[in-house]
Amino acid sequence: MLFFMYSVLMFATTLHGRQIDFERFDQLSGFNVYNSSLRVRKYNRTMVTLNGTLVVMVPLNKSIMISTDLFHSSRGNQQFNHYPVKLPTRHVCEFFDSFYADYSEYMDNIINLPERGECPIQPCTVHIIDKVFPADAIPSFLPPGLWKAHLINSLQDVEIVRFEIIVKVLLIVISLHGIQVDFERFDQLSGFNFYNSSLRVRKYNRTMVTLNGTLEVVAPLNKSIMVSTDFFHSSRGNQQYNHHPAKFPTRHVCDFMSNFYEGYNEHVDDMINMPKNGECPITPRMIYVVNKIFPAKAIPHFFRPGLWKINIINVLKNVEVSRFELIFIVKTSMLNIWVILAFGTIPLLGLQIDFERTEQLSGYDIINNTLRVRKYNRTTKVLNGTTASFVILNNSFLISTDIFHSPLGNQQFNHYPMKLPSKPLCEFLDMLYDEYSECLSNIYNLPVRGTCPIPPLEVYTIDKMFPSKSIPPFLPKGLWKAYIIFTLNEQEVVRFMWMVKVRLS
Ligand SMILES: *[C@@H]1O[C@H](CO)[C@@H](O)[C@H](O)[C@H]1NC(C)=O
Ligand SMILES: *[C@@H]1O[C@H](CO)[C@@H](O)[C@H](O)[C@H]1NC(C)=O
Ligand SMILES: *[C@@H]1O[C@H](CO)[C@@H](O)[C@H](O)[C@H]1NC(C)=O
Ligand SMILES: *[C@@H]1O[C@H](CO)[C@@H](O)[C@H](O)[C@H]1NC(C)=O
Ligand SMILES: *[C@@H]1O[C@H](CO)[C@@H](O)[C@H](O)[C@H]1NC(C)=O
Ligand SMILES: *[C@@H]1O[C@H](CO)[C@@H](O)[C@H](O)[C@H]1NC(C)=O
Ligand SMILES: *[C@@H]1O[C@H](CO)[C@@H](O)[C@H](O)[C@H]1NC(C)=O
Ligand SMILES: *[C@@H]1O[C@H](CO)[C@@H](O)[C@H](O)[C@H]1NC(C)=O
Ligand SMILES: *[C@@H]1O[C@H](CO)[C@@H](O)[C@H](O)[C@H]1NC(C)=O
Ligand SMILES: *[C@@H]1O[C@H](CO)[C@@H](O)[C@H](O)[C@H]1NC(C)=O
Ligand SMILES: *[C@@H]1O[C@H](CO)[C@@H](O)[C@H](O)[C@H]1NC(C)=O
Ligand SMILES: *[C@@H]1O[C@H](CO)[C@@H](O)[C@H](O)[C@H]1NC(C)=O
Repeated sequence: MLFFMYSVLMFATTLHGRQIDFERFDQLSGFNVYNSSLRVRKYNRTMVTLNGTLVVMVPLNKSIMISTDLFHSSRGNQQFNHYPVKLPTRHVCEFFDSFYADYSEYMDNIINLPERGECPIQPCTVHIIDKVFPADAIPSFLPPGLWKAHLINSLQDVEIVRFEIIVKVLLIVISLHGIQVDFERFDQLSGFNFYNSSLRVRKYNRTMVTLNGTLEVVAPLNKSIMVSTDFFHSSRGNQQYNHHPAKFPTRHVCDFMSNFYEGYNEHVDDMINMPKNGECPITPRMIYVVNKIFPAKAIPHFFRPGLWKINIINVLKNVEVSRFELIFIVKTSMLNIWVILAFGTIPLLGLQIDFERTEQLSGYDIINNTLRVRKYNRTTKVLNGTTASFVILNNSFLISTDIFHSPLGNQQFNHYPMKLPSKPLCEFLDMLYDEYSECLSNIYNLPVRGTCPIPPLEVYTIDKMFPSKSIPPFLPKGLWKAYIIFTLNEQEVVRFMWMVKVRLS
């Protein structure tokens, strides 16, 4: 059962656009408590599975506490950084119960698990047969890379068992729910005696842009022409680029094309009159590109959100003869957490979430928020009130958060070690629209998606229940307090406090 810890570790929501695979599973110590023969096996060319048995050697009682440590290697090179998210430490029976509550649908291919509620857990042998990683159980905000989780069992504060699970997260399909990639610009900067491009980025409809136009090969392109690339990234999307070490290998133009065909064939087959794969030299021709949508699937997983600029440079005898510049934008919907924070907090299966309090603590000259929690009927609380802004709000305003948890619900809060990057205000609003439009019911007069800057306005919230549907099915119960902080030029200008109660229903 324990090998699922990593999924319990994180908030689970539906996953789009990722492939998640087991990479390794090792028991590092504690063979007198468990004896694991679980191994990651290649199942077929494209899939790996977890296979083997986990023997529980001794009864596991409430004295055995399970804790976790999480590490991330963003480049997938095993250089792990400690990741500050932690699950609350729980005793083994509690751990197992919450696992059952949240993940029972992912238990196929697992045989002879202890019964739900069994405590102490009696010695047994659990068989896991060709278990594919249950990617659906993993939150969509989990960044790509390698993830390492240590599951530690301790008895009276002494570590007795440690498991290590390594999981690889790849972005494969990029969907609207995870990441959206759009062309931003395509320009030929020089070399019109070799190429003549009229390719332009056009608005196709309200939500899509396409690349449209022609690319003329003016002169024959032979092996003397070397093609290299340079990548730049602007993480805030403000055109302040940093050089990025990604590169296509420098090759002569024919090789470059073959390579391109190999990797991206399916993404160029809607371009008309492309040279044949292998054609060398490439003869003069007119290539037509009609309403081409950015082939988001072609984007490898290191493309972080923001603006990306790629320079494609043709060199003849060490002299640059042509340069193209492609700019595209990668948008992500940041974290579900944002919504969790913006609206309160978490899960579903067996838990009820209610607004508890909301308060504005500062910044009345910028926003005046009269939202209050009201009793709607005997069992339900709602939010009611007006949020008025008095200034023009733009992406210079950053939203950040600070989270606290009171497990006993007695207002003794601990700082929760999860920190989220600050997000520019308009982007935050767009993210709400893109990902959480269903949470926006009963909120009236919100600026439409894409509005930026946001002029002064009044937003009305009427009888808004906690949008639990939007919430992933795992969060410790108790009181959760979130400060939502607006900063402008690194100065805090507005602070709100939200409090939400999570309890078993
Ligand atoms: C663990 O199981 C393996 C076979 O799966 C067995 O060879 C080994 O002796 C067992 N270890 C202990 C401590 O029982
Ligand atoms: C997994 O284990 C089962 C049962 O021991 C075995 O039949 C199957 O071939 C194993 N799968 C792999 C990929 O090794
Ligand atoms: C690998 O196995 C899975 C599950 O049986 C199957 O869906 C997939 O198509 C297989 N892949 C290959 C390349 O055979
Ligand atoms: C719980 O299990 C541990 C380790 O097996 C044992 O030392 C302890 O006495 C047990 N406690 C209870 C209350 O049974
Ligand atoms: C490039 O193509 C445009 C039309 O697409 C044309 O007007 C222009 O003269 C061409 N430039 C050269 C150098 O061929
Ligand atoms: C793209 O080009 C085609 C053919 O030139 C044209 O019919 C179409 O309207 C263009 N699309 C846009 C969005 O400009
Ligand atoms: C834009 O066009 C695409 C492709 O035809 C379509 O899937 C999408 O729904 C359109 N969006 C709008 C807002 O019309
Ligand atoms: C390759 O193309 C360049 C530029 O058009 C030309 O100067 C050179 O002579 C060509 N080389 C060969 C071997 O054809
Ligand atoms: C904020 O709104 C409340 C209620 O609408 C009002 O009484 C109060 O004067 C407003 N505060 C400011 C600073 O405008
Ligand atoms: C919320 O506000 C609306 C409109 O002001 C009012 O009709 C409704 O009764 C209020 N709800 C509660 C629970 O106070
Ligand atoms: C309270 O209102 C909610 C929403 O309309 C409803 O689902 C729930 O059954 C009501 N509870 C009671 C006790 O009336
Ligand atoms: C955003 O608004 C702030 C405060 O009104 C202003 O100082 C800043 O220049 C604006 N930024 C942009 C990019 O318009």
